[in-house]
Amino acid sequence: MSWIDVGHIDDIPLRGARLVKTVQGCVALFRTGPEEVFAASDTCPHKGGPLSEGIIHGKQVTCPLHNWVFSLETGDAQGADQGHIQTYPLRLEAGRLMLDGAALAKRSAA
Ligand code: FES
Repeated sequence: MSWIDVGHIDDIPLRGARLVKTVQGCVALFRTGPEEVFAASDTCPHKGGPLSEGIIHGKQVTCPLHNWVFSLETGDAQGADQGHIQTYPLRLEAGRLMLDGAALAKRSAA
């Protein structure tokens, strides 16, 4: 894995999100707790809603367009809806957000 520093955890409001531009495209970073963050695709598989503008609750995000709910841990749609968003390894290192560049590269190759 090659970890890329994409900012500080405090750049993301609690229960908020932020988009980061990477060479492989935009990735949404979600902060679900004081020390808990996830990285996932910003694009809802239903009709392309911007998930970084959705509502974050627990370890899930609700799409702002039609309220589909996705787990930020697995990327799977919850409830009766069928769908999946890409998730990426993200870790915290002394408050810095480290995104796995190798996983991003894999996405762009797919
Ligand atoms: S675009 Fe996300 S639920 Fe419809």
